[in-house]
Amino acid sequence: MTLRLVVAGAAGFILAMGTAASAQDAGLIAKGKKVYDAAMPKCKMCHAIGGEGNAKGPLDGIGGKLKADEFKAWLRTPKEMATKAKAERKPPMPVYAKEKLSDEDLQSLTAYLLSLKK
Ligand code: HEC
Repeated sequence: MTLRLVVAGAAGFILAMGTAASAQDAGLIAKGKKVYDAAMPKCKMCHAIGGEGNAKGPLDGIGGKLKADEFKAWLRTPKEMATKAKAERKPPMPVYAKEKLSDEDLQSLTAYLLSLKK
């Protein structure tokens, strides 16, 4: 009887933890979407998500292709990343330095980009 209660309690706890974590993720992703829309120069000028924006640079499904560190590198050091990826599209991706995009905004933007899975 007691054991049953403990097991039920533990299961409930794990479930609650899972819900809390995904609610937190959802919040971060929503924040990241706002950063994507607000960042200057606008990401949409050169990229599209869900058919909205510049179709030459679709980011749909990008969350399944790149890792968090790679997104951060694209934003902070795009020239190096373009060289590595042999990306030749013009105009090239601009640098989003800390003054334009804080570490906190970069964090939520990365969460948003990671959530873009096909
Ligand atoms: C002036 C144009 C321009 C702007 C503005 C821009 N990018 Fe880019 N971005 C590029 C180009 C060019 C590439 C190289 C890959 C390609 O050709 O699409 C690229 C690559 C990327 C990649 C890697 C894509 C891949 O397929 O590996 C990501 C992720 C990305 N950009 C995100 C963003 C985000 C987020 C913003 C806004 C904060 C942004 N970009 C703003 C031009 C731009």
